[in-house]
Amino acid sequence: MSEPIKKYSPVAIAMEVDKRYSWCTCGHSINQPLCDGSHRAKKATPPLAYVATEEKTAYFCTCKLTKNPPFCDGSHKEI
Ligand code: FES
Repeated sequence: MSEPIKKYSPVAIAMEVDKRYSWCTCGHSINQPLCDGSHRAKKATPPLAYVATEEKTAYFCTCKLTKNPPFCDGSHKEI
């Protein structure tokens, strides 16, 4: 039996000024798109820290293919 095809889409986060967001780079977090510490046990890549400079809703990448991390750049549409 084959696995179902995964569909990715960005997740909207209402960012707060000066708040630090740890974007999951390894894909193991169950708290996507943010890090839950799973990379430590998996010996995977650590998260990317982003500190918001303005209060706005941002769309964080979940497919990990963006060229503008941590934000979605539409690359998920190529999967
Ligand atoms: S979810 Fe859109 S580029 Fe990754």
